[in-house]
Formats: sequence, C-alpha cells, structure tokens
Amino acid sequence: MFPSIIHTYSILHLQDVDSTNNYAATNENQPFMQHKTVIMASFQTKGRGQHYNKWESKEGENLLLSIYIKPEILYVENQFVISRLAALSIRDCIAYFLKKPTSIKWPNDIYVNDKKIAGILIENSVSQNKIDRSIIGIGININQTEFEESGATSLKLESKKDWDLLRILEYLLYRFNHYLESLGSTNEEMHQLFDMHLYTRKEWLSMSSKKQGDFIGRILSTQKNGMLVIEDKNQKLISYNHKEILFNSK
Ligand code: BTN
Repeated sequence: MFPSIIHTYSILHLQDVDSTNNYAATNENQPFMQHKTVIMASFQTKGRGQHYNKWESKEGENLLLSIYIKPEILYVENQFVISRLAALSIRDCIAYFLKKPTSIKWPNDIYVNDKKIAGILIENSVSQNKIDRSIIGIGININQTEFEESGATSLKLESKKDWDLLRILEYLLYRFNHYLESLGSTNEEMHQLFDMHLYTRKEWLSMSSKKQGDFIGRILSTQKNGMLVIEDKNQKLISYNHKEILFNSK
C-alpha cells in the first residue's frame, strides 16, 4: 500500500495525440494547463524521443505522458535536478512493481536487465535565467511484448504478466510528488540517490572519448550540473557531457 496523491494532479487522458509533449506545449496558455497537470495518451502518432528519434508504442499498451510543472525558483544552471526527479521517480516505480534491480542509464534512460524500459524527454522554457516551466515527457513500456529494437524491455516481458496502467501511474505520481516537494532545498538527497542508481556504476568498462581516445574507465558519480564523472585506470577523474563519451561494452 502507498498513499494516493493522484487527486493533487489534473489528469487529461487523450485517446490519440501527435505527442503528449507537443500537446502540453501547444496548450500551455489554456486555463487547464496548471502546475501539476498530466497529459496522457493511449496512442501517439508522432511520439518523440531524445535526439529527434521517434518513440513508438502500441496503442493502449504503455504509459505515455507528460507532466507539466512550473517550478517556483529554479535557475537554469540547476536544471539537471528535473532529470534527477524524473529518472528517480520512474526508477522507484519500476523497481517497486518488478522487484528487480532497476537503474538509471545516464543521463536519463531507465534500464532493467541491461535493457531499456523507459525514456524521458524534458523540454524546459527559460525566462530571466530561471526555468519558467518544464514539460517532462515519460514513456514506460508496460504491456507491450514486441519491440523493433532488440535493446528494449517492458514490465510484462520482465514479469510475464499484465499490468494495470492506472495503478502504475498512481505510484509513479506518488514518487514524482515526493521528489518534487523536495525541489528547491539542497537537492543533495536526490543527487546521491541518482548517483547510487547509475547503470554500471563502478564497473570497469571499455569506453572512448575525444579527450581520452579508447580507455578503460568506470562511472563514479555526476556533477551538480549533470556531467558524468569517470575514473580511468590512473585514478584520473574526467567529466563528460552527454555525447562526449561512448561506452563500447554493455
Ligand atoms: C527517449 O528515451 O528517447 C525519450 C522518450 C520519451 C517518450 C515520451 S512518451 C510521452 C512523451 N511524448 C513524447 O512525444 N515523448 C515523450
């Protein structure tokens, strides 16, 4: 059992939409778009992933949603806390139902058994150096069992049973709200939890970067701004932005 806080969110469930993130952005001046509004869809005709990729999902089988928030005071330089908040909520949610190790593949994919189970697409708007609003797009593979990509999994594939999407949404929002309420303080707890759950943390792996070429390194932590801290075999610590580092194995 967990406390239900779902009634503190406004939820708009659409049958078909191009993308829940697009819908939230297009309608953001409508009176119904307030802090803590969730746009959900059964199907997206133009679901978007990171780096202009598509996000494909079979109708009615998965959670497709965007959470619209207006953080009170969040400076642009601290915007990675929104990634931490989203990734931790989804990670907690999947781990709670699956009871399997679930981790965060930096910067914000969620992994179970070396496969991607959920993705996040965050779109912020900035005004006077502060995040004015954030649209946090979340796709979680729930009851879908066939994927074009071999590196994908779902709750059903991992558990061999069907899941109730609403119950999962309820728990997701419970965890999301928990982290959202701690935004604005030091966020130290979220930072540590995020680092603790990093996929392949402390495992020596083959990787490559422009700065270092091919080398053996391991993930240690993240910086406040979200950069990934890697240690090499000479105990040298190097920080990377997304796309500056490539993992050759795993
Ligand atoms: C990724 O891992 O590439 C991010 C995937 C994000 C997908 C979700 S589904 C709901 C929301 N609407 C979209 O168009 N994308 C996000």
